[in-house]
Amino acid sequence: MNKKDIVRIILGGKTISAKPSASAFASSNIALCKYWGKRDEELNLPVTASLSVSLGHLGTRTKISISNMADRITLDDCELADEDPFARRLISFLDLFRSPREKYNIETKNNFPTAAGLASSASGFAALVIALDDLYAWHLTKKELSLLARLGSGSASRSIFNGFVEWQRGSRDDGMDSFAQVLAEQWPELRLGVVTVADEQKAVGSRAGMRRTTETSELYRSWPLQVEKDLRNIKEAIQNRDFELLGKTAESNALAMHATMLAAWPPLLYWKPETVLVFQKVWKMREAGVPVYFTIDAGPNVKILFLENQLNVVSKNFGSMEIVTPFS
Ligand code: PMV
Repeated sequence: MNKKDIVRIILGGKTISAKPSASAFASSNIALCKYWGKRDEELNLPVTASLSVSLGHLGTRTKISISNMADRITLDDCELADEDPFARRLISFLDLFRSPREKYNIETKNNFPTAAGLASSASGFAALVIALDDLYAWHLTKKELSLLARLGSGSASRSIFNGFVEWQRGSRDDGMDSFAQVLAEQWPELRLGVVTVADEQKAVGSRAGMRRTTETSELYRSWPLQVEKDLRNIKEAIQNRDFELLGKTAESNALAMHATMLAAWPPLLYWKPETVLVFQKVWKMREAGVPVYFTIDAGPNVKILFLENQLNVVSKNFGSMEIVTPFS
């Protein structure tokens, strides 16, 4: 099975008549229980399930227009060269859907630093799939959009939805049971603070990082067990609005993921010295009785988790952070 086979299954029989252009927005998401490791690299099938919360106003807007010239891709107002790795990734994704003669003009804009561990690929591929659905009037269900977005980037399967979102591991070889679903529960008081310590491109992308970890890290063996326990606790925390359980599970899950990377060879460390300073500040605040936790993806930037009633004290400690209200 390859990506093209899956696209054929999902779109089978749908007529291809495009309107001139379409545009869509998708929120980025941050996993509270992470996806790290693939059981199928071609189809982006995960070793474990994962659970995220969406990042509200932070995300990607993508406009796609049919063109009669060559493909043109603009990222954050800069036109990308054909050999740019992001452009190549996008073009090979688009090739899954079009006839060889069809060309596109794609304008994509993130309102946060690209490739700094803020899951730009998640909102990017989700926005692109939603825009394609509109361009070709496929009228796909959210489940089908999630399956297609997953072929672009695993975490994009979750960015089709807003709120708390779980991406099922699935067990089928064709991955048709590995898609995201939204949880019924909401948590309006929940806040996230994005602390950006660096906005340069990371040296090792998540695909290569996952491969290195699954192939060489002895600690990775314990990762599925960690996820099983953490998923249970996070769902219980969401159901009972137990912020302490949510925060400590998310923080420990993120650190356990980074522990598997550190135990890989060559070792993988996505943190900067400033990243650790943020961790230490959070721990110090907790010692002083402030309920605040963090999570972090494969990059140097930290996301602080807190409740609305701690907004003043958290803002005072992390001056330049961007505040996200996932359930506004
Ligand atoms: O979807 P990818 O290939 O960008 O991988 C995302 C991996 C993490 O962000 C580290 C974890 C996650 O669940 O989002």
